Amino acid sequence: MTGWVLLGRMADVDGNGRWIAGWAGAIPVLVRNFQGDLRGFRNVCSHRFARMLTEPAGKGPLRCPYHAWVYDADGVPRAIPFNDTDFHLDEAGRRALALPPIAVTATHGLVFVHADPSADAGIPLGWMAAGRTHLPDGAVIGTNGVILHRPSAGREGAC
Ligand code: FES
Repeated sequence: MTGWVLLGRMADVDGNGRWIAGWAGAIPVLVRNFQGDLRGFRNVCSHRFARMLTEPAGKGPLRCPYHAWVYDADGVPRAIPFNDTDFHLDEAGRRALALPPIAVTATHGLVFVHADPSADAGIPLGWMAAGRTHLPDGAVIGTNGVILHRPSAGREGAC
């Protein structure tokens, strides 16, 4: 089990449907904005265990690319193609297949995750001691949460 991990910027999840994805140690995770509420889950589909979001950030429904199951804000699969003919999942069955939640907290414009959903959220500021932090997409953040470098900028500085 890892501790708190910096997953990305608040600016990347600042609207309904926007999401970021990455890793908490060896565990693929995601955070999505559901009507202003940030929810985090393991980024592994309950159907055939595919990794659902493969880009570091994006916008759209929480839909698995393989068989199009769509998950709601509680991680419960809601749109399940062929459910009536193949799966026959009722409400209890759907809830039993909910995505495992993770802990999410945001501070200084950054989003942190912890694979343990009951983790204490009062800690993830150790990154400040390092002076700068490298995000999964290659961006570099300063101690005040300001972006020092974007992957496409090619150099550090104002961007
Ligand atoms: S593996 Fe995700 S919907 Fe089938």
